[in-house]
Amino acid sequence: MTEAAIRARAEELLAQMTVAEKAGQLTQYFYFGALAETQAGVGGLESDPSAVEKVLGRGEVGSLLFVTDPAQINGLQRRAVDGHRLGIPVLFGFDVIHGLRTILPVPIAMAASWDTDLIERGQAVAAREARAVGLHWTFAPMVDIARDPRWGRMVEGAGEDPFLGAQVARAQVRGFQGEAVGTPERVLAGPKHLAGYGAALGGRDYDEADVSDSALWNVYLPPFAAALAAGAGNVMTAYMDLNGIPATGNRWLFTEVLRETWGFEGFVVSDANAVRNLVTHGFARDLTDAGARALQSGVDMEMAIGDPAYARLPEAVEQGAVDERTLDAGVRRVLEAKLRLGLFDAPYVDEDRAREILGDPAHRDVARIGAERSAVLLRNEGDLLPLDAGTLDSIAVIGPLADSRRDTLGPWCFDFDLDETVTVLEGIRRHADGTADVRYAPGVRPAQRGTPSLFDMWPGNAPEDPEGFDDDAELARAVDLARDADVAVVLAGEWQNMIGENASRSSLELPGRQLELLQAVAATGTPVVLLVMNGRPLDLRWAAEHVPAILDIWYPGTQGGTAVANLLFGDVAPGGKLPFTWPRTVGQVPMVASHTRSHEPENQHARYWDEESTPLFPFGHGLSYAPFRYAGLAVDRDAITPDGTINVSVEVTNAGGRQADEVVQLYLHQRHGTASRPVRELKGFERVSLGAGETRTVRFSLGPAELRYWNAAARDWVNDLSPFDVWVGGDATAGLSTSFEVTGA
Ligand code: GLC
Repeated sequence: MTEAAIRARAEELLAQMTVAEKAGQLTQYFYFGALAETQAGVGGLESDPSAVEKVLGRGEVGSLLFVTDPAQINGLQRRAVDGHRLGIPVLFGFDVIHGLRTILPVPIAMAASWDTDLIERGQAVAAREARAVGLHWTFAPMVDIARDPRWGRMVEGAGEDPFLGAQVARAQVRGFQGEAVGTPERVLAGPKHLAGYGAALGGRDYDEADVSDSALWNVYLPPFAAALAAGAGNVMTAYMDLNGIPATGNRWLFTEVLRETWGFEGFVVSDANAVRNLVTHGFARDLTDAGARALQSGVDMEMAIGDPAYARLPEAVEQGAVDERTLDAGVRRVLEAKLRLGLFDAPYVDEDRAREILGDPAHRDVARIGAERSAVLLRNEGDLLPLDAGTLDSIAVIGPLADSRRDTLGPWCFDFDLDETVTVLEGIRRHADGTADVRYAPGVRPAQRGTPSLFDMWPGNAPEDPEGFDDDAELARAVDLARDADVAVVLAGEWQNMIGENASRSSLELPGRQLELLQAVAATGTPVVLLVMNGRPLDLRWAAEHVPAILDIWYPGTQGGTAVANLLFGDVAPGGKLPFTWPRTVGQVPMVASHTRSHEPENQHARYWDEESTPLFPFGHGLSYAPFRYAGLAVDRDAITPDGTINVSVEVTNAGGRQADEVVQLYLHQRHGTASRPVRELKGFERVSLGAGETRTVRFSLGPAELRYWNAAARDWVNDLSPFDVWVGGDATAGLSTSFEVTGA
C-alpha cells in the first residue's frame, strides 16, 4: 500500500469508530493464556484471559502481548477480525530482546562484539522467528545507556557509551525492521525506555533519575535518535520520574523532543502499567486523570496489566478533559502501523511454516557466531589460552553455571527450547571428546536465593536448590577434581535471575561461595581458566591478580557451550571488547571513560583513601590470541573550519602467528572551548580480521556531527574552535596520538 492509501484507509476506519473503540485501539493487554491460570495473581499477573477475550469481541483491543503460540494468535486474531464489524486486526507484541526460540547472547554481549553487521544479522533472525509465529512488534532494542552496574538492566543494553550505543541501536533496528516497517519476515522495532532509565538513583531499578540536560542530550538521547533515524516505528516510555516528571506523563519527552524535535511519526506505548502508575507517582489524581495526561503528553497506547487507565478515556472526553482529536491522533498512528505491517491483508500466520522457521539450523549458526564474537578475553598471562586438547589428559570443569541450560540463555527470554541449549560443560565435552577426560563438579550450590526476579514465575526460570546439598563436601570434591586435572576451567558469575529487570544488586561480588571455590581451586596449583557468565562488571580484583586466563562469555545463548569450546581450544580467537568501564569495586561506581579532567588531575587515579581510582579493565578492553601493533597514525590536514571534515588513517598489524580480530577504536579530546569536554570520547571504531602478519590501513572521518556537543550554557549544539587530540588503539587507554585544529579561518 502507498502511504497515501494507508492514510486514507486509516481515516476511513477512524470515521466509523466509537469513542470506546478508539480508546480500545489505544489499549494493549497482557494475555497470559494458560500461564495466567497457573500464575494469576503471582507477581502482578492480574490479567484474566476471559476478560480480555470479551473486550476483544467488542473491538476494543488494539494490541496483545505475551502470546507466542501461532495457533493461539490465529484464534485471537479471528475473534478480532471476524467478530467485529470493523474487523481491525490486533497488533501482537512481545519482548524479543535477544531471540525468540533461538536465543542469541544477551544484548550487552552482542554490543561487546562491536560488530554491527553481526548485531543486525542476529536481530534479523529474531525477527524472522517472531514474525513466523504471528508476532508483529518487539519491545526492543533497549537503548538505555547504563553507567551504574548495580542496575540489573545493564544486561539488556549496549553499555556506557553513546557513540557505541547509537551504532548498536541502529544495527538492531535495521535487523528487526529491515529497510522499512512492513518488510516481510521482519517486525516493528520499539526502542526503549525513553529516557534516562539507566540513571536510576543508586542503581535501583524503577527509582527516579535526575539527569542534566547536558547528560540527556550528549549521553542518554543519542541512541534513541539513532534508532529513530534507522526507521523505528515505535517507542516505549520509561517507568521512572525524569527530573521530577514521570517519563510516562512527560510532554517534553514525548511531544517536544520526540515529535517536534525529532519528527517521529510512529506511535508510543507506555511501559507495563506505567500509565496507572502515574497515580502511584503522586502525579495523577486518579486513573481518569492518569489516562488523560499520558495521552496528552504523547503516549498513544497503554500497556496494561488488568484494568486499563485508557478504558476511562471516553469519560475523560465526556468531561472535556481530553479533546477527541487527541484520541484520533493516537488511533491514526496505530492504524497506520497495522496497515504498514500488512495486517489487514494477511492477519493470520501459517502454523506449519512457523515450526519450520523456528527449527532453521542457520539460526543456530548465527547464535553460535554471536557467542564466539562477543566473548572478551580479559587476561591471558603466559598465553594459557588457547588450550591444546592434544596435550591435555584431563580437564576439570567446575561451577554450577557450567551445567545450567537456563542460565546459559540469560534473562529476558521465554520461548526457548532448553533441550536445544548447549551448556559450557556440554560444549567442552563434545569438543574434547576422545582427546581429554572431562570431569565436572558444581563446587557450590546451583541456586541463589534473594529477591525473586519478576520472571521467576515462568516455567524453568526459578533456580532449583537441590535437597541435601552439602556445601563443604561439594566444594572439597571440586577442589580434588581440580587437583587431579591438567587444567581447571571454572565458570563463575551471576545466575540469570539475579540480573535484568527488578534485579539490581548492592554489591558486584561473585554471589555465594564462588570466590572461595575459585581461590581453593587456584590453590591446588593446577592452571586455572576463569570463564565469567555475567551481564555487568563483577568484582574480579582477586582473580585479576591470581588467575592467569579470564574469558568473559556473558550469557552466550542457545549455542553458548559450542562457542565457548571453540574459543577455549582456539578454533576461533576472541575479539570482543568491553562496552563499559569495569570498576574494581562497587564503591567506585559510576565510573566512565568519558569523564572530564578536573582539579589536580595528577592524582585523578588516587582519589580514594582505600582504593585506586582506575578501573580494573578499561572501556574497550579485550585481548586476543595475537597481539596487534598500531603505526602511522595520520590526519589528512592540520586544520579545518567548523563545517569541515578530517580524515584519519592508521596501520594495524596482526603481530601474531594466527588469524585474529581487533576492534580499532578512535578517541577524541577537545582541548578547550565553551565547556569542559571529556578527556576521551569514542568517535569511531571498526572490527577488522587480520591474518598472521597482515597489515591493514583503517580509516575514520571526523566531521561536524562527530565534533559537536550539546552545550549547557548555549542550550544548543555547538562546534567549538579548538585543537583536538586523537588517539587510536585497542581500548580507551590507547597511546598512539595525533592532533588537528578547528579554526575559524
Ligand atoms: C517490562 C519492561 C519492558 C517490557 C514490558 C513488557 O516491565 O520494563 O521493558 O517490554 O514490561 O514485558
